[in-house]
Amino acid sequence: MPLITFNSENKTFHLSNNSISYIMTIEEGGYLAHLYYGRKIKEYNGLSDYPRINRSFSPNLPGSTDRMYSLDTLLMEYPGFGNGDFRQPAHMIYHKNGTQVTDFKYLTHEIVKGKPKLAGLPATYTTRDDEAETLIITLIDELTQMTVDLLYTIFAAENVITRSSLFKNNGVDDVRLQKVASMSMDIASCDLDLIHFPGTWARERQLVREKISSGQKKLDSKRGSSSHQQNPVIILADPKTTEQQGEAFGFSLVYSGNHEIQIEKDPYQQTRIMLGINSFDFNWLLTPGHNFQTPEVIMSYSSRGLNDLSATNHRVINKHLIRGNYKNQERPILVNNWEATYFDFDEDKIMAIVDEAHDLGIELFVLDDGWFGKREDDNSSLGDWFENEGKLKNGLKGLSEKVHAKGMSFGLWFEPEMISEISELFKTHPEWVLKIPDRASSPSRGQLVLDFSRADVRKYIYQKMTAILDNVAIDYIKWDMNRNMSDVYSNNLTSEHQGSVSHRYMLGLYDLLEQLTTEYPEVLFESCSGGGGRFDAGMLYYMPQTWTSDNTDAIARLNIQYSTSMFYPTSTMGSHVSAIPNHQTERETSLSIRGNVAMSGVFGYELDLSLLSDEEKNQIKEQVAFYKEHRHLLQYGTFIRLLSPYESNDVAWMYVNQDQSEAIVFYFRVLSEESYPLVKLTLDGLAKDKVYDCRGQKAYGDELMYSGFYVDPQLKGDYATEMYHFKELS
Ligand code: DGJ
Repeated sequence: MPLITFNSENKTFHLSNNSISYIMTIEEGGYLAHLYYGRKIKEYNGLSDYPRINRSFSPNLPGSTDRMYSLDTLLMEYPGFGNGDFRQPAHMIYHKNGTQVTDFKYLTHEIVKGKPKLAGLPATYTTRDDEAETLIITLIDELTQMTVDLLYTIFAAENVITRSSLFKNNGVDDVRLQKVASMSMDIASCDLDLIHFPGTWARERQLVREKISSGQKKLDSKRGSSSHQQNPVIILADPKTTEQQGEAFGFSLVYSGNHEIQIEKDPYQQTRIMLGINSFDFNWLLTPGHNFQTPEVIMSYSSRGLNDLSATNHRVINKHLIRGNYKNQERPILVNNWEATYFDFDEDKIMAIVDEAHDLGIELFVLDDGWFGKREDDNSSLGDWFENEGKLKNGLKGLSEKVHAKGMSFGLWFEPEMISEISELFKTHPEWVLKIPDRASSPSRGQLVLDFSRADVRKYIYQKMTAILDNVAIDYIKWDMNRNMSDVYSNNLTSEHQGSVSHRYMLGLYDLLEQLTTEYPEVLFESCSGGGGRFDAGMLYYMPQTWTSDNTDAIARLNIQYSTSMFYPTSTMGSHVSAIPNHQTERETSLSIRGNVAMSGVFGYELDLSLLSDEEKNQIKEQVAFYKEHRHLLQYGTFIRLLSPYESNDVAWMYVNQDQSEAIVFYFRVLSEESYPLVKLTLDGLAKDKVYDCRGQKAYGDELMYSGFYVDPQLKGDYATEMYHFKELS
């Protein structure tokens, strides 16, 4: 069965797999209109064709006397502005005559097997042509001959459609792209909730659920990165949708720079939703004969609640986005020296941590910030990617050899996109910085941003990094980025191109990442931006894991990791046990809860292991051994949220393996209270007819899922936790 069909009689496109349908039509005048997106429909018989109705103050088609039809109310697929539709447009293109009206109408379409690559951009991919089909609909503006290809890929085995747009200037005049959404879609009159993920440093992705009401809402980042402040993803859900049931639509932008998400509910209660590069401060000169490809949006769907939507999001990231040697591979347990030593380390201190780590069973040591240039604090040396000889008596190579001699792997921190004013690089190349001529730069954490839109800058960084990679055995790189972009101006571009710098920067960054990750496939890359400031699908295409947050406090992490799991799988979420009092919140929590929270992602430690008591060491040995035994389940099992930290003092989530023979449940209680109500956990995702054992107690899956079980009523104290391991009895 084809996944995409075109019915030439009613001019309808139908994208459909076993579970979902996405239907569009070529409406009167040649406009591409939306008809339906949701559960699978066998055959579309015209019941959702847009009704003809006269709406006052809504213009009609040019030259038409038909008052019953207007672009202002039609459900559109890729709307413009200035010819009847007064809602937010998906594109704004300045033409030579000073107008920005572009009248895109259907020209042609093509259906291809598989999924074409998006030039220079991260995107989901297929490994076999039968995994997906792609519909490319070409719209044309007859006056300027400009075209836009709308790309729709539907996956055969996932409830996922991806979208992007490709602009082509086939005319004779320059045009300026001011807004180029990756996708737009209008939803027929209904009530919807919006779930989104605002935050800030150390408090990333704090889930907000709100009713979509009349008017416009814009969620965005102007920071040159996807940002701590607004993750580039949203969910639209039926107001009755819960984790376990109801309709939900996910949208995730595969891009790591400035983004915008617009939601608009019109007077007729129809909702327009649009995602793409932020149009604010964007301006791209498109000369004749040239193209512009927008980033991709991954659209996921579930009729079975948010957990099911997340399971789809996770599978798609693991199967169709993450690449390289670490795809579907278990990730090592690491220890990072950042919170253990900050900048104050030498080889002896580091080796004390490595020795302990080895005895505890930890597999990878990561040397964080401070090993290069004259870096003693965060005021200097970024850009000087050569060793700080005062710190490591046997150099990086000597340290790496010692770590490897212990049978462990060695990882190293870089912040390649940045430069300190106090650095050799700045002395030689002050023009390599993003900076507006004749204006003073705005430092942040005492550093400036290198102009990654420049090929010479990227080449220099590439050479410096590879000189180290070729000389020292390095198994892991933490790629950090500790400020947002301001003073955006490139010395390398003329004034007419300055509006394109932020996007060119991203293309440059992606280009360098592609090169490094291809040439060093054995290196595990972890992306970081002061924690989770660039936790997005774009980065995951190059680097299979991300440091979730600089906040390592277990309780703060409950909220962060819960929300992060809506889109991103646990195999992508770096999560470490750190010291108490916690360095960010000063909270004191048990090693058990710190362990259980950190094991809920890609597990590691970030504290001075040499200062631990014997009792703590024994407990850590147990944690490490447990994680090793169960990490496949914890990184790649189906993740199911049970109790939300946003709704209660009790938090729980679980993991189930593919054949439902094993599950792990983590329960966390934030604050203790006297006479606490009994807490009953009802599980999910198990096989109802299988018998499971947990702590010597046997039960069928149906009992565990429908009736449930009580958490130990004697559990006392703040920040309490339990872990339950269920195994099928054979
Ligand atoms: C921010 C990161 O998130 C931290 O883990 C650490 O690597 C510091 N930067 C180092 O400067």
